[in-house]
Amino acid sequence: MIAVAVLGYGTVGSGVVKVIETNHDSILEKNGVDLEVKYVLDLRDFPDDPIQKRIVHDFDVIINDPEVRIVVETMGGTNPAYSFTKRALEAGKCVCTSKKELVARHGTELLGIAQEHHASYLFEASCGGGIPIIRPLRTSLGADVIDEITGIVNGTTNYILSKMADENLEFDDVLRDAQKKGYAERNPEADVEGHDACRKIAILSSLAYGKRIDYTDVYTEGITKITSAEVRYAKELGMAIRLLAYSHREKDTAIAMVAPYLVRKTDPLYFVNGVFNAIFVHGNMLGDAMFYGQGAGKEATASAVVSDVIEEAQTLGRSVMSKWKPEKQKLQPVAETEKQFFVRIAGEEGTDRVREAASAFGASSVVQAGLPGECGLITPVMTERRYQECAAALGNQILGMIRIRG
Ligand code: HSE
Repeated sequence: MIAVAVLGYGTVGSGVVKVIETNHDSILEKNGVDLEVKYVLDLRDFPDDPIQKRIVHDFDVIINDPEVRIVVETMGGTNPAYSFTKRALEAGKCVCTSKKELVARHGTELLGIAQEHHASYLFEASCGGGIPIIRPLRTSLGADVIDEITGIVNGTTNYILSKMADENLEFDDVLRDAQKKGYAERNPEADVEGHDACRKIAILSSLAYGKRIDYTDVYTEGITKITSAEVRYAKELGMAIRLLAYSHREKDTAIAMVAPYLVRKTDPLYFVNGVFNAIFVHGNMLGDAMFYGQGAGKEATASAVVSDVIEEAQTLGRSVMSKWKPEKQKLQPVAETEKQFFVRIAGEEGTDRVREAASAFGASSVVQAGLPGECGLITPVMTERRYQECAAALGNQILGMIRIRG
């Protein structure tokens, strides 16, 4: 029997207990590990739940019990999750987590501590919820040099964008409805401003490219400026708007950014709707692969966490995480990256104003979406810097912009 302690009996923590107990026999049969949840650390008591007899309020009970070999951290936030994780790893216990904030902020250090103490620090559920992506990047795709990751890695924003398009609604109305239904947090900032996706692409890219990508260096735009007008143009163009977390590496430089993009119908990411996530990966030998599934939710996320528990139980006494180097990956400034842009401009098609704007951008055609007093342009491929220069020259004639995925 391998004793496991779960820190935090919230949505994911209680899901972990459920997965380990419901699937105990099948996990034993398939993976040869006999898991038992010995303790659950929480500030609260749960008198009506059978878990109560395993609830502890003091982390020292867990750290001082040599039977506990694996600690599951599902507390949220970075404190005390950070200090508990550090202490558990220093005591030679394996840790796994579903929390991307901690991994994005302290992952490099915690991976180093794990290795020093012949323990593992795993975080499959931190990106893409229940979708296997960290382990495939680390093992199944270990033979490849990965040069691109593009993901729809935030279910809340994908739900909002899908619903805006399906029901012709405005951002604020869909957000309010999503909050009512529990799909969006009461404080939705981390999701709608792109911070959650930013942390996820920083983790995935650090792992894929082998050097630390600091999430604070990743250019990030959320979806709060997307209106029903952008959605109408997208439909007119036969495209969909998706919040993409993108990174690309070429030789020793990488690009990493999060922003809403127009995605063509020929792109598999076009068909990723609602709360689903998808992560597209390109490798130099593999070519293209896409990982698709439930990016959040109690059981799906817990299933990914327990996959880490199983791997740790099978490899006790050694560190299985291939860690990234602590040195920072050099990032190309976003201003130097090239792409096409869709630009909403004030003015009717056929007027000098619009002809001049089109010529400033080098755009050859004008897009109409039936919106009075405005139209859209698609620029040729240009750098972000060049786009910004053209846009600045046109001032408030620019009504909006979305990048187009190449
Ligand atoms: N807030 C996240 C999302 C949850 O909407 O995808 C999973 O990390």
